[in-house]
Amino acid sequence: MMEIVSSLAEAYAKEYTSPEDDLIAEVAAYTMQTHSNAHMLSGHVQGRFLSLLSKLLKPKCILEIGTYTGYSALCLAQGLEEGGELHTLELREEDANIAKGFFERSLAKDKIKLHLGDAKTIIPTLDQTWDIVFIDADKTGYVEYFDLVVPLVKQNGLIIADNVLFHGEVLLETISGKNAKAIDTFNAHVKNDDRVEQVLATVRDGLMLIRKK
Ligand SMILES: C[S@@+](CC[C@H](N)C(=O)[O-])C[C@H]1O[C@@H](n2cnc3c(N)ncnc32)[C@H](O)[C@@H]1O
Repeated sequence: MMEIVSSLAEAYAKEYTSPEDDLIAEVAAYTMQTHSNAHMLSGHVQGRFLSLLSKLLKPKCILEIGTYTGYSALCLAQGLEEGGELHTLELREEDANIAKGFFERSLAKDKIKLHLGDAKTIIPTLDQTWDIVFIDADKTGYVEYFDLVVPLVKQNGLIIADNVLFHGEVLLETISGKNAKAIDTFNAHVKNDDRVEQVLATVRDGLMLIRKK
């Protein structure tokens, strides 16, 4: 795995970023202890970035694709308006149950709606338009998720896609892995879409910030 941002810069960023709340820190600690793939979790700096964006945008409706243990959902929910909702979608029952346990202990518990199943079949059933969409599930699904949600995102709404540098694999001269290829295709797909403008921010594993015009 290539180091994208130097570990010194990552540590410095963490030191000067506001701390996580207790429950959010507990989700991170629990996930590190119990999951071998804990790197999937957004983490301290990215989590605070998602929370800050959400607080600035004051969304009514947030869609998250890929709940995992609930870390990023709790961060994004911190910016919801009074009466706002966050819908988060997870395929794996085991992870969904862990997330559910943490959501129940959150101040935002009544605002978070967890859906178990395949995001591709759930998204068309949600009768909502979105202020923020966070795409963070299977990398080969990103293009489909993007095409599904763009018409449902409000004007000036924000789509955020995680892992768009895919551990640095998209930077290699020959991109060989299935997921890295899918991410590279996704990045080009977004670039060629006139309905949006975007910034590829080199935060952690790469975050694409996409505004619907
Ligand atoms: C990178 S993790 C999400 C991390 C989480 N957003 C966070 O920052 O804490 C990706 C999650 O997407 C889930 N996933 C994969 N394919 C999916 C699908 N088709 N529908 C819903 N969830 C899916 C995986 O089970 C996994 O828990």
